[in-house]
Amino acid sequence: MAAAAAASASAERGVDVKKDGEEEQVVNPWEVSAGKGGIDYDKLVDQFGCQRLDAALVDRVARLTGRPPHRFLRRGIFFAHRDLNEILNLYERGEKFYLYTGRGPSSEALHLGHLIPFMFTKYLQDAFKVPLVIQLTDDEKFLWKNLTVEESKRLARENAKDIIACGFDVERTFIFSDFSFVGGAFYENMVKVARCVTYNKVVGIFGFSPEDHIGKVSFPPVQAVPSFPSSFPHLFAVNDQLRCLIPCAIDQDPYFRMTRDVAPRIGYQKPSLIESRFFPALQGENTKMSASDPNSAIYVTDTRKEITTKVNRYAFSGGQDSVELHRKLGANLNVDVPIKYLNFFLEDDDVLEHIKKEYKEGRMLTGEVKQRLIEVLYELVARHQRARAQVTEEMVDAFMAVRPLPNMFG
Ligand code: TRP
Repeated sequence: MAAAAAASASAERGVDVKKDGEEEQVVNPWEVSAGKGGIDYDKLVDQFGCQRLDAALVDRVARLTGRPPHRFLRRGIFFAHRDLNEILNLYERGEKFYLYTGRGPSSEALHLGHLIPFMFTKYLQDAFKVPLVIQLTDDEKFLWKNLTVEESKRLARENAKDIIACGFDVERTFIFSDFSFVGGAFYENMVKVARCVTYNKVVGIFGFSPEDHIGKVSFPPVQAVPSFPSSFPHLFAVNDQLRCLIPCAIDQDPYFRMTRDVAPRIGYQKPSLIESRFFPALQGENTKMSASDPNSAIYVTDTRKEITTKVNRYAFSGGQDSVELHRKLGANLNVDVPIKYLNFFLEDDDVLEHIKKEYKEGRMLTGEVKQRLIEVLYELVARHQRARAQVTEEMVDAFMAVRPLPNMFG
């Protein structure tokens, strides 16, 4: 392949090929890694061809919903989008849309990074009063991880409890697992999508290699079609042109690039997207939290003691090596993980600004910032644990029942 063509194919996959010796940035649904400076999100937006979510758009969301923007919007954590403006234009004219998000159930316990899209989706559901479908891709995790069908299904149901604990409204939310729901109109849409995507195209988007099994190659339509209302006849039979908005982390973008490419060719609307940064590992911005490295992540099941130990021992500090030096030079907030985590979870903007200023100018020490973070995380995790303990098997069944939603747009 000519060098330019190779480079552009790599760029489409989010692989940033650099000169010898330099690290390359890789972002796709299965791998996220970056060089020392962390993920270059600006470069990703350009490579993927999505749009930046600017302050004007955040203001517009606030105006239309009549409530303050979520801190994830205020702080640029959801930082990119595709056609969000179109959804808002329709909404302004009194037309509704639906939300679609999902989770691949690869682990028993969720970590804080997994909660981010669901916390944000819950805010969107409340703010816009719209229906929501949540896909649990138990089939995806069967195909990619070394799990049995039974184990993938069990994890999907366990994860559903954590998702429900985020506070979704059962009258507006349908949760489904692929193993139990795929069929009927959903499957018809899958084959419509599949017929529009060549093998070359799927390799270009996802970077599959000849050694990959064909289960991987054929999976993308499964994640694509919840973007189309006609996949859910029990919900949207009367409105098969209803628009869809997908909140997700930016690593899922390839699936929806493919979906948006195909949609008009099969007579459907393109879904819109609102996309987030990754929640960094305790060790720093170079990668996202990994479910397979327990010391890289805070889990929603962690105890106060575990949170304390992990933050104190592993959270990468931008503070100086000695107190004297720190008082003189202050902290480097750009690399400091406790500050990054507070940016995600500390609600009060003024308090956050105060901590940043004091820390940056050396009046606050790393230990004090970490203490604040431990309090914030513990409160969040404890609240989640209380909510999850209230989730019964009957509630899971209620969310997952194939039924009309009584109060979709109420
Ligand atoms: N592939 C995603 C994962 O592994 C799960 C998923 C399915 C998803 N549909 C989605 C995520 C829609 C975001 C939006 O976690």
